Amino acid sequence: MKRQSMTIKVGGVDTDLKSVLHRYIIDALEDDGDNLLEGPRAQLVHFVGDKVHDYTRQRQMPISRYEVDRLTEELVDELIGFGPLEVLLRDPTITEILVNGPHRIFIERHGVLYQSELRFMDDNHLLRVIQRILAPLGRRLDQSSPMVDARLPDGSRVNAVIPPVALDGPCLSVRKFSQDMMSSNDLIASGSIDHNILEFFTLMVKKRCNVVISGGTGTGKTTMLNMLSRLINERERIVTIEDTAELQLKHTHVVRLETRPPNADGHGEVNARDLVRNALRMRPDRLILGEIRGMEVLDVLTAMNTGHDGSMTTVHANTASDALLRLETLVGFTGMQIQASTLRETICSAIDIIVQLTRNSEGRRHVSEILEVVGLRDGHYITNTLFRSEPGTQIGFIRESNNMAGDKLRNEKLRNSFNHISATGGSKFQHHG
Ligand SMILES: Nc1ncnc2c1ncn2[C@@H]1O[C@H](COP(=O)(O)OP(=O)(O)OP(=O)(O)O)[C@@H](O)[C@H]1O
Ligand SMILES: [Mg+2]
Repeated sequence: MKRQSMTIKVGGVDTDLKSVLHRYIIDALEDDGDNLLEGPRAQLVHFVGDKVHDYTRQRQMPISRYEVDRLTEELVDELIGFGPLEVLLRDPTITEILVNGPHRIFIERHGVLYQSELRFMDDNHLLRVIQRILAPLGRRLDQSSPMVDARLPDGSRVNAVIPPVALDGPCLSVRKFSQDMMSSNDLIASGSIDHNILEFFTLMVKKRCNVVISGGTGTGKTTMLNMLSRLINERERIVTIEDTAELQLKHTHVVRLETRPPNADGHGEVNARDLVRNALRMRPDRLILGEIRGMEVLDVLTAMNTGHDGSMTTVHANTASDALLRLETLVGFTGMQIQASTLRETICSAIDIIVQLTRNSEGRRHVSEILEVVGLRDGHYITNTLFRSEPGTQIGFIRESNNMAGDKLRNEKLRNSFNHISATGGSKFQHHG
């Protein structure tokens, strides 16, 4: 049952007891020089409990011992903990927490979003909690830098945006770190891929195809990148570059690099481009870039074209062919003057395969298309759809029959090996068209 919050009259106005107590206790703590907030929790509980008791007794409020204890715990959580987020962060079945202003908290469980009953008192309360999350990370969030993206010590990812940029109060999203990212078996079990696709992926990685995983926000790009990276031979040397380190590779020979935002004075930034350039000097067999999203795009394409075959990355796009356009747009943003035809040639020869991910309305994430980038004709990309999922069907992936025949596969790296997959393709695949 939902608990009613207790109200008291302050200056003739109904006011939430807890928020009044909150102020009262903050004042009391300021008077108390013992720095209780940094000491053991039990000491603070004792102090706050006494204050709650005094306050309610002086005003002869009808409040039970149980209520006093509960209020005390909540106030202490708020003072030193993450307020309503405490419970949500502890709950292992919750994978994502989205806070849109103080009164709306959404949580994701098993891929589905629900609105939580919990809420913050007001903007300030939420802001305090956000600041408390960020403080140990040395990250600043204020009017002059109202957005922050950071990683918690446990690996969870946090993003916060506050006014004036966020119009309806502070917003926070937490993507919880999962102890173990989904494996290929998990992805098969959840219907995101099937055995044939896994077999294709294994071959694609072994043959050192350059792969771009494309999808919208939260469609599972990082999870897929992680799964594909795990298919890389154990002996290869891998360098990973991410904005917030999420990948969990099991290889021994892996170097993990993470970008750094500028500090409060605007210095010390290390961006993805710097790291890509440096990574190429580290003699990697494979470069894994968390996401292409800025100035690094040309460096990555060049690397893919000059001996760093088998590199993998992700890009934010809603269809596989949009992914190619997205890369062009990103190159445009770098300000480099490159002829359109030259640019397309560069992209074409760099990228072998695009894996498109989609998330449907029930929250199921799956591979919706696998596209082979073949070449250019009259300045347009020629692509080959190798797999796609059939809209409206629950199971399996339709193999595009015309393209699945081994001899039609034009990618040099894959062509010779592909008949094998065609021959062993499971009965789940129906021929299409
Ligand atoms: N195939 C899948 N089936 C079920 N859950 C999945 C699948 N792939 C990813 N998830 C879950 O979805 C959430 C988002 O996944 P992930 O971080 O891989 O997405 P993303 O596309 O990289 O997101 P972003 O756009 O924020 O970078 C995670 O909680 C992850 O565990
Ligand atoms: Mg991601």
